[in-house]
Amino acid sequence: MRTPPPRLLLAASAAVAGTAVLALVPLSASGLLEPLQAVQLAVSIVTLALAAVLVLYVRRTDGKAQRVDNRVKRQEAALSRAGSDLARVAAALDGLAARLDENARGHVREVLTVLGEDRMELAAQSDRLAELAAAVSGLDTAGREIRTGLATLTSATRQNYSQLEALVDVRSLLQPRAPLPPLRGWAASPDVLRLLIERIATTHPKTILECGSGSSTIWLAYAAQRFAGNHVIALEHDERFAEATQALILAHGLQDVAEVRLAPLTDWHPAADPDEESIPWYATRALSDLPEIGLVFVDGPPGATAPAVRYPAVPALLPYCSADAWIVLDDADRPAEKAIVERWLAEYPELTAVSHKAEKGAVVLRRGH
Ligand SMILES: C[S@@+](CC[C@H](N)C(=O)[O-])C[C@H]1O[C@@H](n2cnc3c(N)ncnc32)[C@H](O)[C@@H]1O
Repeated sequence: MRTPPPRLLLAASAAVAGTAVLALVPLSASGLLEPLQAVQLAVSIVTLALAAVLVLYVRRTDGKAQRVDNRVKRQEAALSRAGSDLARVAAALDGLAARLDENARGHVREVLTVLGEDRMELAAQSDRLAELAAAVSGLDTAGREIRTGLATLTSATRQNYSQLEALVDVRSLLQPRAPLPPLRGWAASPDVLRLLIERIATTHPKTILECGSGSSTIWLAYAAQRFAGNHVIALEHDERFAEATQALILAHGLQDVAEVRLAPLTDWHPAADPDEESIPWYATRALSDLPEIGLVFVDGPPGATAPAVRYPAVPALLPYCSADAWIVLDDADRPAEKAIVERWLAEYPELTAVSHKAEKGAVVLRRGH
């Protein structure tokens, strides 16, 4: 049974004690009790009442403490169970984490292994790709070289056809009687020869003067012979080539229309400026008895002698040229020859120049327009 609350106990005991003390008053008044005994009895009654209240209060407190204690114990037990549960859960979680960790490590190992294999495969493929790229680049370079080569070949084929066409023209026109040394290269090309031969055929120049002898001398001599009344004089600075050309003239029976004049290169001084550096050119004594010239072919001395080596041709030969003479410069595409033409035009305003499309470039100079 639960103990009543302290206030109620105190009131009950005060009421009991009060009633008992009040009961002592008539007893003492009646003389049944001595006053001192009544007081002692009243104090005892009050003390007993207080003691009862105290005992009951302590009991009540004890009960409460007991209940609290019990509750604490129950809670401790519950906490202990919860702790055990938590420990079990923690252990389970630890185990789970360990398994997960192990699984994860296993997977990572597998992934790394696969990646490692893939990486090796990728590296091998990358090497193969690099080889392929190098091969493609090589093919590309080869393709470009082939294209360049084809362009060169195409241009050379066109040029060859053009020269062959010119050669067929002059051959069928002049019909040489003996084999001729090759044209082109050091020798004049068929296209410039055709230009000269056409000029000879149409204007019949009395004298044709050539600077630099060779195959061209023979072709010009055939043209001179075919279109009667002409004569070819070839200036040659080199004795061996002079002899070789002379032998060709004889072999072709052209000695009546062609001659080679050996004219070693000497220092030629421009009359306009005696202080100017001299230029090597044919010794001018070879020009002493020249008749009027109707056609000049400037194909010597060799360009390697000096850049301006063909410049003296105009100052030296123009005084011998007829009014309608043509001066044809071969190798006119070379920078040195272009400079020479410009100088001629600057120094001889009476001259005009017409460029002709020829394998090595040809410029025709003449007086007037
Ligand atoms: C351009 S070549 C003259 C070629 C000549 N007009 C012809 O068409 O055959 C100029 C000079 O070079 C020299 N020459 C000719 N043929 C040569 C050769 N194969 N090698 C080196 N020099 C040569 C000669 O002295 C010639 O006068």
